[in-house]
Amino acid sequence: MSAPARVGPGRLITFEGGEGAGKSTQIRLLAERLARAGVETVSTREPGGTPKAERLRELLLSGRFAARGPLFEAMLFAAARIDHVDGVIAPALKRGAFVLCDRFVDSTRAYQGAMGKVDPDMIRLLETVALAGATPDATFVLDLPPAEGLARAARRRGAGARPDRFEREASAFHEGLRQAFLRIAAQEKERCVVIDAAPPPEEVAKTIWRKMTRRFPLSEETPA
Ligand code: TYD
Repeated sequence: MSAPARVGPGRLITFEGGEGAGKSTQIRLLAERLARAGVETVSTREPGGTPKAERLRELLLSGRFAARGPLFEAMLFAAARIDHVDGVIAPALKRGAFVLCDRFVDSTRAYQGAMGKVDPDMIRLLETVALAGATPDATFVLDLPPAEGLARAARRRGAGARPDRFEREASAFHEGLRQAFLRIAAQEKERCVVIDAAPPPEEVAKTIWRKMTRRFPLSEETPA
């Protein structure tokens, strides 16, 4: 199957990594910075980003489908992605916007592919169908020891709230995930940049901005 043509003049930047690595904070800081540089920015997340995909998100994160296995879940993540690409990502790319997406196809590769052992050919097929040419131009993999990430995620959730379907997995699962993301980044060095997510958020944001200005024609001089 030949790859579909890329969608529009915009740029799709995805953020990946384990639980609690600070993706949403970094997306917010980068969106602010891009706005100051005069760039139209759309911030979104997966699973989700459209009303239908957010419904699928609730079902997936509740764990209701876990017993049906990782292939079933991969197909639902792909179904949510089809709606998200059609409804939000492709239109924004066609307008020339920068789309910042919290998790995308690498999460399916890592969670359902590497950890769930779904056949890589099936993962690729689902990607081709769901993306329809909306492939990421750059991916920041926020890397953090899983224990620290899970502790951050627990603090963010607050006392009493239940961890979601994937946060509930054992620590070996989270260490496996970290290695899976690092493997993906090593295989696709052109697209992926591994970022140490341990420093304070403002410092991580500076590193990401440096990489962005090197990769895309943005003004480095834009005031912080
Ligand atoms: P979320 O609360 O967004 O996690 P985080 O804050 O760590 O990003 O929940 C999304 C969960 O869904 C997360 O555990 C990863 C999982 N996921 C998959 O397993 N496959 C996928 O394709 C995607 C997009 C997410």
